[in-house]
Amino acid sequence: MTPKTLSEMAVEVLTTADGHEKTALSRAHARTWFAAREGGELIEIGTAAPPMQPARPVRPTLLDPRDVPRRRPGSQKGRIAILHAVAHIELNAVDLHWDIIARFSEIPMPLGFYDDWVKSADEESKHFNLICECLEANDSFYGALPAHAGMWRAAEDTAGDFMGRLAVVPMVLEARGLDVTPGMIDIFQKAGDEKAVTAMNVIYAEEVGHVAYGSKWFHFLCGRHEKDPKEVFHHLVRTYFHGPLKPPFNEEKRAEAGLPPDFYWPLAEERHPKG
Ligand SMILES: [Fe+2]
Ligand SMILES: [Fe+2]
Repeated sequence: MTPKTLSEMAVEVLTTADGHEKTALSRAHARTWFAAREGGELIEIGTAAPPMQPARPVRPTLLDPRDVPRRRPGSQKGRIAILHAVAHIELNAVDLHWDIIARFSEIPMPLGFYDDWVKSADEESKHFNLICECLEANDSFYGALPAHAGMWRAAEDTAGDFMGRLAVVPMVLEARGLDVTPGMIDIFQKAGDEKAVTAMNVIYAEEVGHVAYGSKWFHFLCGRHEKDPKEVFHHLVRTYFHGPLKPPFNEEKRAEAGLPPDFYWPLAEERHPKG
């Protein structure tokens, strides 16, 4: 039997609907990739046709963002809603990480690029499972509530633009995660939900790496095409991202992830003048 290519593994994850099956497969493929890398073998990147939309479980029901009930963090119900929204984001993140591998597989990249993306996909899978355990500890589960239908939009909008994908997904959306996670940790800390605090601290630490990988490979591609990274970033975010970037920004963690202030502040200032 010919061994699977990395793109084929990516498509397998994308076409698996159940969250636990999807993340188990994602983690198994990551182990296979890294075992081969450590053993000095090469798994071909190959090419494959990823679906336009990844397979998703029957539940949660996906609703227009305006129709998703608002969260009131003061109650257990509100905290369950936050955990549910985070689980949904993490499951989308699993697919986003495998999608970029398969979708842009015809663009030759150093092996380090695939190392970073497979590692992140594995971490997103772990994040989904950690948050599912927190939901279960609160007598709930992923699928118990409706979820945001617009989550895959960034992937569709940038399906034909590799640098656009890097600009919008890791460098805008995942960077936004760094801005909002400390506030969520605080909510669970106040409620005494130590399990959720621990899970969110793992997510917070690892997401810095995901933004950093985005920035690293975005800069690499700018260098390959001899382009000014800041100008290209501004152009791509204005093209593909809908709406302004919202301050306050976590400047400390963004800096740690290699995102300089002159990348994101001008995009916020377009509609929210600073000071
Ligand atoms: Fe994550
Ligand atoms: Fe991430």
